[in-house]
Amino acid sequence: MAVTKEKIWDVLKKVKDPGLNKGLVELGMIKDIEIAGSAVRVTVALTMSGCPMKNQIKDDVKEAIHGVEDVSEVKVVLTTMTSEERAKLLGQKPSEMQGIEEVKRIIAIASGKGGVGKTTVAVNLAIALSKKGLKVGILDADMHGPDIPIMLGIDERPLGSKGMLLPIEKFGLKVVSTATLAGEGVPIVWRGPLVTKAIKEFLGHVAWGELDYLLVDLPPGTGDAPLTMAKLISLDGVIIVTTPQKVALADVRRCVGLFVGQDIPIFGIVENMSFLRVPGVSEEQILEVFGSGGGEKIARAFKVPLLGKVPLDQKIREGGDTGKPMTLDADSECSKTFDSIAEELLKYIRK
Ligand SMILES: Nc1ncnc2c1ncn2[C@@H]1O[C@H](COP(=O)(O)OP(=O)(O)OP(=O)(O)O)[C@@H](O)[C@H]1O
Ligand SMILES: [Mg+2]
Repeated sequence: MAVTKEKIWDVLKKVKDPGLNKGLVELGMIKDIEIAGSAVRVTVALTMSGCPMKNQIKDDVKEAIHGVEDVSEVKVVLTTMTSEERAKLLGQKPSEMQGIEEVKRIIAIASGKGGVGKTTVAVNLAIALSKKGLKVGILDADMHGPDIPIMLGIDERPLGSKGMLLPIEKFGLKVVSTATLAGEGVPIVWRGPLVTKAIKEFLGHVAWGELDYLLVDLPPGTGDAPLTMAKLISLDGVIIVTTPQKVALADVRRCVGLFVGQDIPIFGIVENMSFLRVPGVSEEQILEVFGSGGGEKIARAFKVPLLGKVPLDQKIREGGDTGKPMTLDADSECSKTFDSIAEELLKYIRK
């Protein structure tokens, strides 16, 4: 029996996009079907070029078409939707998302509690990823305490071009922060609607260009900014930073719950200020200043990896204060710690 386009359409109607949980046909993702005898070639338009589900979509399409009688060969060609198509599909205005079209993954760094080292982790992890040859950006979405520019030693403001903001480049990273816009030391009173507006601006109107990872340094807690981020864009995942002590855990659980409630994957936990190495007379002593086991506990409770433990280290603090993150120094212990956290993260994401 001849293979017809109708038969192919029929089986494709049953194939779903695993991320959006809707049919590929319904989503307008099937762009073309060509038939030459018993060979079928289908073009599928993904919502974004770095779609983490692309292999699964390809396999599912192949499998469905092979189920049609007399089909001998199936070729699936993957393309990417135009920004208009994607905007229509996701119900967004195209201009809102223009700046992040070529960003493959957006990962937020969050914590339930302030001062646990989110910004320190964001900056050092970004450098560790970039040392692996990946293109990395940082968005400082912490309106209340924008510390990223200080920790990276950035004092210039970003320039605009054709209605888009150009990120500042430092240590191979592309960086945008509220502080680089407002100027250091300017008190910023951000209220709910302003936070939402500012984040929208940053996401849509920054010319991030091609990035493998955009790390977003979120403000602490479970307020407007993390929620807005989660709702506005499809965050690919979140890294949670915590300290080991008991009192931090309740806040961390609430924070994890916020993202889990939005179906955003938790890529892992980083335990910061885990221990302190004190050089002793005969051997090194390890002090657990903030207790122990917090990171493991959260990781176990939510069945997510503990990506690593960062020691309490004067050099890490100094690196932050002087704008030269310790991870830049390849021989430092900090650098090894963050290299390993980056590797664990990549292992988990690429699984
Ligand atoms: N492992 C560490 N060893 C030593 N100092 C650290 C370490 N991690 C963070 N710090 C220092 O602790 C302070 C708070 O860290 P950081 O600003 O990264 O926390 P945060 O969670 O981003 O805070 P906020 O909630 O205010 O945004 C900074 O001075 C930083 O240099
Ligand atoms: Mg911070």
